[in-house]
Amino acid sequence: MGEFLTFDEFLNWDEAAKHFTPPARLAVIGDPIAHSRSPQMHNPALLERGIEAQYIRVQVPQGRVAEAFKQFAASGFLGVNITIPHKFEALKAVDKIDPLARRLGAVNTLAIREGRLLGYNSDGPGFLRSVKESFGVGVEDLRVLILGAGGGAGRAVAVQSALVSCRELVLMNRTAAKAEALAAEVTSLCPQTAVKCTLWTDDTVMDVLPEIDLIVNATSIGMKGGDSRLLPAQALQARHRVFDMVYRADGETLLLADARKAGAKVVDGLTLLLHQGAISFEHWFGGSAPLEAMREGLRLAVQA
Ligand SMILES: NC(=O)c1ccc[n+]([C@@H]2O[C@H](COP(=O)([O-])OP(=O)(O)OC[C@H]3O[C@@H](n4cnc5c(N)ncnc54)[C@H](OP(=O)(O)O)[C@@H]3O)[C@@H](O)[C@H]2O)c1
Repeated sequence: MGEFLTFDEFLNWDEAAKHFTPPARLAVIGDPIAHSRSPQMHNPALLERGIEAQYIRVQVPQGRVAEAFKQFAASGFLGVNITIPHKFEALKAVDKIDPLARRLGAVNTLAIREGRLLGYNSDGPGFLRSVKESFGVGVEDLRVLILGAGGGAGRAVAVQSALVSCRELVLMNRTAAKAEALAAEVTSLCPQTAVKCTLWTDDTVMDVLPEIDLIVNATSIGMKGGDSRLLPAQALQARHRVFDMVYRADGETLLLADARKAGAKVVDGLTLLLHQGAISFEHWFGGSAPLEAMREGLRLAVQA
């Protein structure tokens, strides 16, 4: 078997299953999926908890998520993580949606119990835990700027921040209409939270930053080495906290490097991956996830 199962291999599960000892009972799906570090994070956790199961990658094409979920249930799987581009499709493919996942608008965790498909979202709560662990402060005490409030990640973080009543929420997006629609939705869901939506230019960012404590990059800018700067380097100050949802296996993003130079506190997408993974594990097995085993697994995976 390669680094992942193709969809055809997965559909022929009786044959594929022979290659996994201990048996495969958990998986991550996406397209592409070979890059995912989730197995290196979850397999040490399974070992630590003494659970005779392993976590694998399955490549699932768009439009086939419901079919994949049925196959997972029929093949004795306990749970699945869902990554790009399937988090919205997954919302429609489950039997029951957790209320938070419904509000965040996406499912990234499937738990299979007695054949029922239960959909959760661990990205939002994982964001809250990452902020608390890294900055020692809760999102409820912060004024938050989200850059990239047009995609699924920006939406989850925006709604989650508003649900905990962050002090202020400012949304910016390249396609302004998407941020405006999100701002209207967040306001109707969480009328107690002050939400602003501002056109995204270097000048407007410079104007709002003095009133912002936490800057979140929810765009995909920074994933590749040659990507342009998200913000003018001089925009960042030592008092800022900078959360880059992007993670790179080959080093730090330009945003986080600029933030460190400015003396700002930073957190990267790997920390978010860890905490959302821990919350998924807790949905599957209950109790607290073995966080340090997962953290070490991720550290080794990135080093490799
Ligand atoms: N660490 C983790 O565990 C974790 C979890 C979730 C997501 N993420 C990361 O978060 C990022 C976004 O994910 P997503 O699922 O929300 O993706 P998405 O749905 O494709 O959304 C991408 C967002 O980025 C904006 N964008 C893309 N290219 C841009 C550019 N050149 N200039 C300005 N804005 C640009 C888009 O703006 P428009 O609306 O104008 O297109 C949109 O708001 C990805 O890098 C993903 O890997 C990480």
